[in-house]
Order: sequence, then C-alpha cells, then structure tokens
Amino acid sequence: MKKDFLSLLDLEAGELEELFLLTDALKTDVTRRPLAGRSVAMIFQKPSLRTRVSFEVGVFQLGGHPIFLSQEGVGIGVREKASDMAELLSRMTAMIVARLFDHSLLTELANRATVPVVNALTDLSHPCQILADAYTMRQHGKWKPGVKVVFVGDGNNVVNSWLELAMLYPLHFVLAAPKGYEPNEEILRQARKQGVSTIEIIEDPNAAVKNADVLYTDVWTSMGQEAESEKRKKDFAGYQVNARLLAQAKPDCAVMHCLPAHRGEEITNDVIEGSQSIVFDEAENRLHVQKAVMAKLLESVD
Ligand code: CP
Ligand code: NVA
Repeated sequence: MKKDFLSLLDLEAGELEELFLLTDALKTDVTRRPLAGRSVAMIFQKPSLRTRVSFEVGVFQLGGHPIFLSQEGVGIGVREKASDMAELLSRMTAMIVARLFDHSLLTELANRATVPVVNALTDLSHPCQILADAYTMRQHGKWKPGVKVVFVGDGNNVVNSWLELAMLYPLHFVLAAPKGYEPNEEILRQARKQGVSTIEIIEDPNAAVKNADVLYTDVWTSMGQEAESEKRKKDFAGYQVNARLLAQAKPDCAVMHCLPAHRGEEITNDVIEGSQSIVFDEAENRLHVQKAVMAKLLESVD
C-alpha cells in the first residue's frame, strides 16, 4: 500500500480483497497492537460521529492513543500552515487522520508528512466510507462483479468515492441526480475512460432503480453547504428513497446510507428502519475496515 490513503485510487485493485481479509481477521483477533506506544493525530475541521468514534476506538484497539484536534483548537490553514502541522505531527505521532473542507489541504499535509495521512472526508471524497460500504456489500452477498448500485441524490464527495471504487472493481453504477448536481468532472471522466465499470448518470430515479442490487443515498445538503439547504430541498424533492422507489428495485435490494440521515428528506423512516436496510452494518464496519487500513499503512512505512 502507498504511504497515504487519500483516495481509493491509492489502492491497487488486488489490495481490496487483501484489505477485506485483514478486516475479517482483525474482527476476530483483537490481540494485534501495531500502534502500541504510538499516537495518532486526528485533525477535524467538520463535525463527525461515526468517523471520529471509529478512528478513536480503532486506534485504541490497535494499542495506540488518538489525539483529537478540532479546528477551534489547531486552526489548520488559519493559525498554522498545513505543511508546518504535518512536519510537527510527523515528529511526534505515527499517523495523521484528517477531515477537511478543502482537499488540497489534505494533499499539503500528505506531501510534507513522513507518516501516513488518511482522508477522513473532504469536500471531494470519502474513501473510508466507501471502503466500509464495499465490505458491507461483501458481508451481505452483494459483492459480485457487475453488481448494480443506484445512488439517488447529490453527486457529492460520497459519489466521487463510488466512482473511484468503480475504477477498482466492476460495478454497474447509476447516479440519479437533478441537473447541476453531477459528480466531480475529472473523476467521472477518469472512471469512464478506465472502463472497468458501467457508469450512468441520469435524472429519473424511477428509471435508475430498476434491477438495483443496492439503493444508496446521502443527505441533500452536505457539511459546508448549509446556505443552499432550502434550494436543495426543492431541487431534490423527487429524489427521496421511499417504499415506492424501493419497490421498483430487485426484491432483495439492500438499502444503504452513509449517515447521518435526515429522515423524511432523502430517505423515509420506514425504509431506513426496514428489513432491507443495512445502514448500521455500514456504520459499524467503518471501525473494522479502518483498523485494517491503519494496520496496512503502518506496515508500508515501518
Ligand atoms: N458517515 C460519516 O462519515 O459519518 P460522520 O460524519 O458522523 O463521521
Ligand atoms: N456528503 C456528506 C457525507 C457525510 C458523511 C457530507 O459531506 O456532509
């Protein structure tokens, strides 16, 4: 594995299954302590529940000590340059986990750091989430070449990471989004050019969902976009994942959501609580998969 995990494209296709096997192993063998006596710095510019808790618990379970650094506390890019922080943190800690707005701050950290840097979400992508999602699909028998994943909603950071996964593993990935909410152009272009997966971007969620093996959604307003919330509610009005939409997918279609969810907006309460929903397995798997990522990254620099 490369020094950093900034994007799913930092993995080779063959490393996915390797990471999943390590995840399986770490779930049962709780004696491994690759972080014993070491600390991990966690720089968070945005709020978080799952990512913060799964990394803090994961670092602890691997024998290490997590240090949570809030924006108020350290002011990345404001109080101090990201590269200066990376230099200091490389001298005192074994790894840097960062949740940031601007992806270029993450690359600034990674370019200077001599320890691994992990993307815990930026405006551009959320690779830890999608890795856990793929592992969850595998757990639920959905990890098969050509599996149809339909994402209904905003072509945001989560979708960009789906497109990166689509470059590593053959998916039939369909995004149903209103005009103006398409994913990152460069990532989409690259994913299409690679041709590993079939990728469709369409407007009609009803057409998209036919034969879906997985129906995925995320909030309409991501962190940092709060000022657009009212406009987005109008633009995404026809894009709710509800029982009527789900009924048009395969009968055993799994429902996924990275969480947090806004019940009654992008997903209804009955669907997220329904028998086809695997959203809390996804959330739990963040812990297991990230432990495997951290263990692998440490191997690559130790
Ligand atoms: N899915 C996810 O990253 O959740 P948090 O924003 O709560 O970390
Ligand atoms: N797209 C969402 C994901 C949250 C985990 C956001 O960026 O806020």
